[in-house]
Amino acid sequence: MARLEGKVAVVTGGASGIGAATVRRLAEEGAAVVVADLQDEKGEALVAELAKAGLRAAYRHCDVAELSQLEEAVACACSEFGGLDVMHNNAAWSGGGYVADIDPEVWRRSLAVMLDGVFYGCKVAIPAMLERGAGSIVNTSSVDGFYGEMLSSPYTTAKAGVINLTRNVAIEYGRKGIRANAVCPGVVDTPLLDVVLQAGTRTREQIADMHALGRVLEPREIANLVLFLASDESSAITGAAILADGGLTAGTRLTGFPTFGGGSYG
Ligand SMILES: NC(=O)c1ccc[n+]([C@@H]2O[C@H](COP(=O)([O-])OP(=O)(O)OC[C@H]3O[C@@H](n4cnc5c(N)ncnc54)[C@H](O)[C@@H]3O)[C@@H](O)[C@H]2O)c1
Repeated sequence: MARLEGKVAVVTGGASGIGAATVRRLAEEGAAVVVADLQDEKGEALVAELAKAGLRAAYRHCDVAELSQLEEAVACACSEFGGLDVMHNNAAWSGGGYVADIDPEVWRRSLAVMLDGVFYGCKVAIPAMLERGAGSIVNTSSVDGFYGEMLSSPYTTAKAGVINLTRNVAIEYGRKGIRANAVCPGVVDTPLLDVVLQAGTRTREQIADMHALGRVLEPREIANLVLFLASDESSAITGAAILADGGLTAGTRLTGFPTFGGGSYG
């Protein structure tokens, strides 16, 4: 039997990168999935791809910074597929810069998408899950939810907030059958990485080398963790912020020893 047979999920930011990989994994494992995003063409194309493979999905245009649009996405899950079991709050957009230089509008929009958007996603998912008596919320944070990152204060602030919001949902609704967890990826090969590379501060090779695995991660590797947290296989896990970072945060590298390339260690 498929791991999410009969379940219904909403994935925000589901048209691209980690979200799109997660949509595919959840659908492959039997879930009906509502793809919620701003990128209509990419979202519709993903739904068409899944339909061709005999999998169930629907697309809804959704700006997660607007509560009413998340309400519509969850209403779509309920009307088209019969309810909601899994909410993956994953959409992100952020500006950056030195703290003193950040335009307050850019700060507000970043927090509106990445923190308000996750709050709204939880707020609309919880009543639908209470109706079922069960549910799993998976919020996308980041290694940047634990640490500072140059020129990224709106991002790091929002991602840290996502972790504690997730913990609050876990302790407030655990007894009602709802679990909530955060996934904290390292650097993943998505259009977001292209934006980082365009900034020109680090090469792809330098970024890869920061991970213990010596490579950037694939969206599907993060999607596999989301799938696990969405499924009943993770029934004992709630309130957790789980790293899927390829060892990015395993060491400080302060000593500057080179990585071992080749030889018996390579
Ligand atoms: N790529 C990485 O290295 C990395 C690392 C850690 C965490 N993350 C997190 O993973 C998540 C997915 O990022 P990704 O790397 O797949 O990037 P991505 O750019 O491929 O996907 C982000 C998606 O969010 C959508 N989006 C943006 N603003 C939105 C809004 N207001 N409403 C609805 N959708 C919106 C975009 O259209 C896009 O489809 C994000 O939360 C990101 O912060 C990514």
